[in-house]
Amino acid sequence: MTDFKWWQTALFYQIYPRSFADGNGDGIGDFPGITAKLDYLKDLGVEALWLSPHFPSPNWDCGYDISDYCNVAPEYGTLADFETFLREAHARQLRVILDLVLNHTSDEHAWFLESKSSRDNPKADWYVWVDTPPNNWQSCFDGDAWTYVPERNQYYYHYFMKQQPDLNWHNPAVKQAMWDAVRFWLDLGVDGFRLDAIGTIYEDPQLTPHTVPMNLAQLRHFSDTARTPSEKQQRDRYWHDMFKHQWGRPELHDLMKELRTILDEYDGDRMLVGEDDNIDYMGYGDDELHLVFNFPLMRTEQLSPAHIRKNQKNRLARLDELPTRGWGCNTLGNHDSSRIYSHYGNGQHDAELARLNAALVLTLRGTPFLYNGEEIGMQDLIITDPGKLRDTMATWYHTALIHDLHIDPVEAARRAGEMSRDKNRTPMQWGPLANGGFCPEGVEPWLPVHPNHLEGINIREQQDNPDSLLHYYKRLIRTRKSTPALLTGEYQPLHTQSNDYIAFLRTCPTQTVLVILNYSPDHRNLKFSGTGKKTARGLFSSAGRSQNDQPLGKISLGAFEVFIAELI
Ligand code: NOJ
Repeated sequence: MTDFKWWQTALFYQIYPRSFADGNGDGIGDFPGITAKLDYLKDLGVEALWLSPHFPSPNWDCGYDISDYCNVAPEYGTLADFETFLREAHARQLRVILDLVLNHTSDEHAWFLESKSSRDNPKADWYVWVDTPPNNWQSCFDGDAWTYVPERNQYYYHYFMKQQPDLNWHNPAVKQAMWDAVRFWLDLGVDGFRLDAIGTIYEDPQLTPHTVPMNLAQLRHFSDTARTPSEKQQRDRYWHDMFKHQWGRPELHDLMKELRTILDEYDGDRMLVGEDDNIDYMGYGDDELHLVFNFPLMRTEQLSPAHIRKNQKNRLARLDELPTRGWGCNTLGNHDSSRIYSHYGNGQHDAELARLNAALVLTLRGTPFLYNGEEIGMQDLIITDPGKLRDTMATWYHTALIHDLHIDPVEAARRAGEMSRDKNRTPMQWGPLANGGFCPEGVEPWLPVHPNHLEGINIREQQDNPDSLLHYYKRLIRTRKSTPALLTGEYQPLHTQSNDYIAFLRTCPTQTVLVILNYSPDHRNLKFSGTGKKTARGLFSSAGRSQNDQPLGKISLGAFEVFIAELI
């Protein structure tokens, strides 16, 4: 255990500041609100917090369009509120990492305002400027990737919304300015960063056009209507081909090395986790990113044993190839994706599947990340009134559907609501109270609270109910923390032919642990041989079976049961 760093064994919890807890009663989450909930988080058992952006922002992309990298958005509080939060978190041994958006700033950032003001100002070259659009590149959020600015009679490039101009990372002054911001937060004591959209930082210098026979709106429309396997394959190919010249450049390695060097100057094992699944960005294993997310695990409609096994086989083999062995990072959801409950449910056994999937992330080898609200089984809330959508990616698509693609307005509203990330960003449900206890009665929260907060999907009632999902998470997290093999052990798949359940060993020098996740409604008796052990001593069972011993030759497993046992 001693050879492992804190970021390898910690359970990370993502806080979406706007939706977490409203301390001042304005319908928007804030730092006083978060600070007041730190005891809840400590009690849950998480050990590190990732904050989605908390910086000043015009909020065209919910904070991912930053207008000042060294401050706190006024709606979230002051820098002093942030410092109080950080101090209080650290006092509870909770680490804190921030969201660092390197690819782009807000178009209201002082750097961009200066850059766009003329062709010869000191920051003229801080963004990516061209005289005429050189190609058909698309922004992945709002159509054309090139936007005109009359002051310069030129166009700038943006991979995301036009309010998010891409920085020119070939300019050393840009690096310097951003590294200053990085140091600002490291000096305050933050423990690291989640790096937003790093793959998009550099583009193909040849500016090669894409060859997909449609634009972004048409591609989204095509994706919505793809039904057959071949249409779905075509859809995936088109998405890849449309953007492949706009991300994934090798220049990124040097940039990540530079950033890593800065972090390594600080004490306390500060860390970097990249919002990318490319293991290459871990460099040699100790010179670029500490972690990248295992997004391929999430990218499936159903988490089947076969999918999980294949994913683990590929990822772990690739991590093992790094000269200093890499470490995995597993998650099933975040502020950009559907809620676990909604995404991986099958309409029949959603509750059971939510429990299995929680156990999956907490028992696989690698650092687990949990998105706020998953611990009580929050679900997607589809907003059907387009006027209430806050995710501008969805409002843009809604307009394009109606005006460019001439889709019926009711259908357009449904599709925009479904693709909108608002559905998984709704306020935390703290109790069976007005506004779910997120903000006071009579105040309109920035996004509607899911009405199911009145049906038991809330923290207060689940805290009082030992059978709740919240208690289940707490027990699982406690089991994980007190079981060295689950924290650090090797992963070895067992019974690899089964379509119904997944079984694997986690082994460290002091312990061998068996994990079985039964994804089927069938009860079964399983026989495990060749482990060199005879008995499974129960550590955890979702079926509430007592911590008894079972012979490895006959392990009994209930429907949808999660069973974790130490082998002796
Ligand atoms: C990835 C973030 O997770 C997402 O929410 C954001 O819209 C884009 N990057 C742009 O910053």
